[in-house]
Amino acid sequence: MHQHETHVTGSTGAEAPVTTASQPVLGTSGQASIGGDVSRETSHDDAFARIAADAQENPLAAELIEAERKRRELENAPFPKPAGTRVITVSNQKGGVGKTTTSVNVAAALASRGAKVLVIDCDPQGNASTALGVEHRSGTPSIYEVLLDETPLVEVMQQCPDLPTLWCVPATIDLAGADIELVSAVRREYRLHDAVAQLRASAGGDFDYIFIDCPPSLGLLTLNAMVVATEVLIPIQCEYYALEGLSQLIKTVEMVRKHLNPRIHVSTIVLTMYDQRTNLAREVAAEVRSHFPEQTLEQTIPRSVRVSEAPSFGQTVITYDPHSSGAVAYLAVAREVAVRGAAAQTEGVR
Ligand SMILES: Nc1ncnc2c1ncn2[C@@H]1O[C@H](COP(=O)(O)OP(=O)(O)OP(=O)(O)O)[C@@H](O)[C@H]1O
Ligand SMILES: [Mg+2]
Repeated sequence: MHQHETHVTGSTGAEAPVTTASQPVLGTSGQASIGGDVSRETSHDDAFARIAADAQENPLAAELIEAERKRRELENAPFPKPAGTRVITVSNQKGGVGKTTTSVNVAAALASRGAKVLVIDCDPQGNASTALGVEHRSGTPSIYEVLLDETPLVEVMQQCPDLPTLWCVPATIDLAGADIELVSAVRREYRLHDAVAQLRASAGGDFDYIFIDCPPSLGLLTLNAMVVATEVLIPIQCEYYALEGLSQLIKTVEMVRKHLNPRIHVSTIVLTMYDQRTNLAREVAAEVRSHFPEQTLEQTIPRSVRVSEAPSFGQTVITYDPHSSGAVAYLAVAREVAVRGAAAQTEGVR
């Protein structure tokens, strides 16, 4: 509990916007008045260089500098597009580990670099729909009608307001009963599979990526997501009990591979809410990496107030605050996803 409080307090400070943080930074160097006069005339780059010079004395500034350096590096880095549609299900039956946050931000990051991306919200909570700013009041045509009434995905998907190549199939509260209603449906594990196959064959269905945001359970909604996907992306929160339930999740993927979808595999693990200042986070990360060296991405996602407040503006952090450490981390994760996917395709693994 105490540990948790430390995380939150620490990250709040770390997430202060560059302009706010730069004031004390310049102040502590004893150059406040000079900095104040000069900054009106100098370019953004000069200000950045001056803050960088002070960064050694100030860990907060160092963090901001690192985020900005990485952002600039990523600005020029290529994001290879996949040869065909990559269908990635974002799963972990443990609640609140960052499934939705990872789905929408990786999707938005890829879309911001020109990929055509669809997020299918498969959770009755509708959090992905909220974050992507699409309508999802009860009664809105949604994933519920797709799964239960066989309504085509093209008829329910909505273009996201902030990124033209990002689309979302919303989930409404109507989905809450779907896990039970699906039990008696024909081909109940294949409903989403059939809908995606139909989408890919229709005009406008040429997506580079389809991300499926799953609910925190291993019911029929998650099963449908695993039957249609080739890849599973597992977000793991760097906290107590992080690995709890992971073996059950892996067993479920194995079961799906054996009986329902031979192509499914865990391709990616993302460490979320990572606070490098705590031993616990470092230990969890090391343990995950030792179990899943191939799958665990190098880039981790820091705890970030900007990330958690973006959904209340109907936005992802990618558009809400592209300079924040959270946005830069998700952009870096998206690049790893793109590059690793392209490499896997070249090797013929997928
Ligand atoms: N990097 C982060 N920094 C700060 N807060 C975060 C971060 N990632 C996620 N959160 C917050 O943690 C909470 C849980 O995240 P999220 O909703 O993405 O998890 P989830 O696995 O989708 O949850 P559920 O199991 O309920 O679907 C949310 O309030 C979210 O804003
Ligand atoms: Mg969620």
